[in-house]
Amino acid sequence: MRASLLSFCYRTTRFIVTKILYFYQAIFFKPRDLEPAIKFGDIILSAITGVGAPIYNFKIPAGNTVDIFELKFSSPLIGASFKSETDVLDLWLRMGLGSITFKTITKDARLGNDKPRIQDISLNGDKGLFNSMGLPGQGVQLFSSQIPHSKLWDYDRPLGISIGGNTIQEYFENIKGINKSLTGLTRSYYFELNISCPNTENGRTLGDDPLELERLLTQVRAIINVPMCVKVSPDSSDELLNQIGEICQGMNRVFINAGNTQFKTPLQVGLKPSQFSKPKGGLSGTPIFDRTLEMVKLFSNYEIPIIATGGISNIHHIRTLKKAGATLYGMATALVFDPYCIPKINKYL
Ligand SMILES: Cc1cc2nc3c(=O)[nH]c(=O)nc-3n(C[C@H](O)[C@H](O)[C@H](O)COP(=O)(O)O)c2cc1C
Repeated sequence: MRASLLSFCYRTTRFIVTKILYFYQAIFFKPRDLEPAIKFGDIILSAITGVGAPIYNFKIPAGNTVDIFELKFSSPLIGASFKSETDVLDLWLRMGLGSITFKTITKDARLGNDKPRIQDISLNGDKGLFNSMGLPGQGVQLFSSQIPHSKLWDYDRPLGISIGGNTIQEYFENIKGINKSLTGLTRSYYFELNISCPNTENGRTLGDDPLELERLLTQVRAIINVPMCVKVSPDSSDELLNQIGEICQGMNRVFINAGNTQFKTPLQVGLKPSQFSKPKGGLSGTPIFDRTLEMVKLFSNYEIPIIATGGISNIHHIRTLKKAGATLYGMATALVFDPYCIPKINKYL
């Protein structure tokens, strides 16, 4: 009841704020751009965290703990990698996520692509997001200096650390650097290899080359025993996904995250090219759910735990994916549209 009421308020406020923003952008001949509305929402949410216990604190119902290796997820609902703001990640944990994953960390700090680089879209009545953020972030050095002291550890839930890189050596060094800063501390975490982000310079990903992926996993395993997750792209062929499944199954303490945004042109998602700074971007939200389900079915043929990510926003999605073999359920777009989906889903698990 409380979650449903707050969900209604949140969705109504979001609707009004985005309409005002688009109106303002139109009268000043600016391109339509969702990013200021997201930033505004983050500022408001962060500003009222201190006083908002009844607004944000929801218990995770008992009996839903999922164990993957030594990681204990008190809810199988987890935050997919797409945000780095600690206050926002903190709120989602308070609302009942079993884990959050930090936005992909790259070697150097990055500003990301030009704006507009994120838009609301609707395809056949299904709502989603279209983005080409280009991995803005603070870089490994700053992340490594801050992560040991993060308040997010206080929840005693596993945290996912998503890693990007331009070469396998860069992935390796990034993992090594961050792991060093956490060594000796009692922390529950795993590394997620973002091998599927389509927003890098040459458009190619580590996921295009299973042999390179295997080399990287072997190199990491030789020095680090932390659980590793491989996040694959829904755009990869089933043949490629099967090769990745075999590699992960053959490694020690490796699991799969299926999957990521789908690579599209603005026209394919109903946007004019002038409404987007890049010729291509990543589609997320309900329109990509069917492919997530296909991938979960494919990976269920391997002996590896599976996170399903892509298009999840309600309990029906979770039940369908669970039946197909998924263990954890990652969400990004649904958290932007309505973070109260967390307690609403947790209640029915
Ligand atoms: C704005 C935005 C930024 C994202 N950034 C990342 C990222 O840094 N690393 C990553 O692995 N996935 C990233 N993703 C992909 C999400 O983690 C997720 O895999 C994808 O959005 C599909 O899930 P959804 O349909 O629940 O959004 C991003 C998605 C969005 C919408």
